[in-house]
Amino acid sequence: MIYDHLLRSRLDKILTVFQRIRLRCWSSLRPRSWSHLIRLMTNGTIRQAPYRTVALVPAAGRGLRMGSHLPKQFLTLGGQPVLVHALRTLEAADPINGIILAVPEAEREFCLTEIVSRHGFKKVTKIVSGGDQRQDSVRQALFAVSEETDLVIVHDAVRPFLTQEMIRLVIEQATKHGAAMVAIPMRDTVKQVGPDGLIEGTVDRRDLWLAQTPQAFRRKLLQEAHQKAERDGFHATDDAQLVERLGHRVAVVQGSTENIKITRPEDLAIGEAILAARRNR
Ligand code: C5P
Repeated sequence: MIYDHLLRSRLDKILTVFQRIRLRCWSSLRPRSWSHLIRLMTNGTIRQAPYRTVALVPAAGRGLRMGSHLPKQFLTLGGQPVLVHALRTLEAADPINGIILAVPEAEREFCLTEIVSRHGFKKVTKIVSGGDQRQDSVRQALFAVSEETDLVIVHDAVRPFLTQEMIRLVIEQATKHGAAMVAIPMRDTVKQVGPDGLIEGTVDRRDLWLAQTPQAFRRKLLQEAHQKAERDGFHATDDAQLVERLGHRVAVVQGSTENIKITRPEDLAIGEAILAARRNR
């Protein structure tokens, strides 16, 4: 009897600790009783989705390399704007709770009515104005994220072929290591060429990977990385590099050669071919 009592009071203390720990999850996941805690743990809720994750989509580029008056994220691929393809995959991803878009100031209204409302993207909670460079656009979106957000996943609007598996893996690795990105191993031989157009050397490609997005980070870590870059006047072409500058290791997960970036006019033709191949799979 006395043992029962002692055991019960120990268990109650443990439960109180569990209840106090925020478990980095929504209040609805905080256990209310022992049976609730067991239910949460056995159906895997705590283990699977403890983090609140927001996707940041830089879509404020002007697409100068495309040579088009329309920025490349708004060009049509398979009958839909390139940006819509990326948003559709992010919207459908269970671990993503919200999406913040950074677009050119002049296109905010267009994005709200023609992209977000027209396609019914319910997870897009904010549309912010982007900056002069990609990094500025990500920063605008990053500092519009709420304090309750644990993880952010950054994805370029002009990569329409990200997959649910990539999202799952970068989130899993960022949860573990704080930072993770999608990349693919270098397949071509890499030459270092001097200003005179002559080869100076051949780079060993075995450790070389090509960076892609999505990239996922603990929100506070990425905010710290952006703040430091801004203080130092440092510019990078991806977010992982800003985190690397803090001395933090970034995990790499396998991307795909299909996860192309629409940059030049020929990329749209490649994109159409990828769409057709996916339809036939
Ligand atoms: O061409 P680039 O690699 O810079 O574009 C990558 C992504 O960054 C694109 O989705 C583009 O719209 C976005 N970007 C941005 N703000 C800029 C420049 C690029 O959001 N000023």
